[in-house]
Amino acid sequence: MASIVKSLRLIADETRLRLLLLLQREELSVVEIQQILGLGQSRISMHLGQLREAGLVKDRRAGKNIYYALTGDPAHRQLAPIIAASAEELPAAAHDLVALKLTLKKRQDSAREYFNQLAGKFGRAYCPGRTWEGVAHLLFALVPPLVVADLGAGEGTISQLLAKRAKRVIAIDNSEKMVEFGAALAKKHGFKNLEFRHGDLAAPPIAAGTIDLAILSQALHHASNPARAVAAAHRILKKGGRLAILDLLAHQFEKARELYADAWLGFTEAQLHGFLTAAGFADIEITIVARDEKNPQFQTILATGVKRQEAVQKLRARPSSPSPSAFPEKKMKKEKKVQTSDAKGISRGS
Ligand SMILES: C[S@@+](CC[C@H](N)C(=O)[O-])C[C@H]1O[C@@H](n2cnc3c(N)ncnc32)[C@H](O)[C@@H]1O
Repeated sequence: MASIVKSLRLIADETRLRLLLLLQREELSVVEIQQILGLGQSRISMHLGQLREAGLVKDRRAGKNIYYALTGDPAHRQLAPIIAASAEELPAAAHDLVALKLTLKKRQDSAREYFNQLAGKFGRAYCPGRTWEGVAHLLFALVPPLVVADLGAGEGTISQLLAKRAKRVIAIDNSEKMVEFGAALAKKHGFKNLEFRHGDLAAPPIAAGTIDLAILSQALHHASNPARAVAAAHRILKKGGRLAILDLLAHQFEKARELYADAWLGFTEAQLHGFLTAAGFADIEITIVARDEKNPQFQTILATGVKRQEAVQKLRARPSSPSPSAFPEKKMKKEKKVQTSDAKGISRGS
């Protein structure tokens, strides 16, 4: 604890009293204190140094600035009422208060000015800490605990993000290696509600009517029959369930077939609308959500639809699709039952 006698001696000086009155309200930099008190830097630094030595104030460096604040020492707490009362007798104290408000406003203005300058460029400019993964965490934290199917999940980057909040995530991929890798990664990260299954978008090994949210993220342009994949997503959704497709807007970059094994060069809004309508989705919304700055300037399209009722017309499943009885869903009796009836549905349509 700082010495009360020493502290009393220190506060007997008007400048130090004014400093303490200011620091009682706000942590301030030396430059800001200069602006408020209208005194030279060396004089201010000398007084601050004495207060710091006595243990009444502390400093911290932030870039080029040194900020001063009260330490909260018990000696200061005992003297605080005297310091506050002395403001009544100091004609400069009222002026300091007004100058403090102006200085703090300037501080806010300079931060605002920074963002004012960035307005319109913010999406492209670097913002420390704002990564897409971070934003995804933020948004997924708002999602209620749903049963999700990530169709064409790859290694499961999105599946894992979803699994943090979802009740259950089923990740489907037709690459054995992806399924193997994704499952190992999910296990390593301790996800008990994330299950990888090997299967095709045209007939995902998931029982009908069991999913709240189905996602096709950059997967539909790999499907040999995209319309069928969308219809299959409709089949696995519960009534009221939603499908979200994130894909590429139709483009001309032919090399994508070779470079990325793309079966389709993206889709037009009309094509996606057609697939969703044909599958029986309602409340369809389609938006172009992003544009790559780099050539060939791929654009990202987001299409969503809601399952309001069972599809009237079922699209044929591929002959190679796994039999629904192979679904590893021993736990969920209800799912099994639906699988059986759905299996009939599929064979009828075939
Ligand atoms: C570009 S990756 C997208 C991965 C992930 N959805 C994402 O957004 O990060 C496409 C994935 O779809 C899978 N895929 C391609 N064709 C498929 C099909 N017919 N059935 C299931 N998965 C398929 C690939 O194996 C690959 O893992």
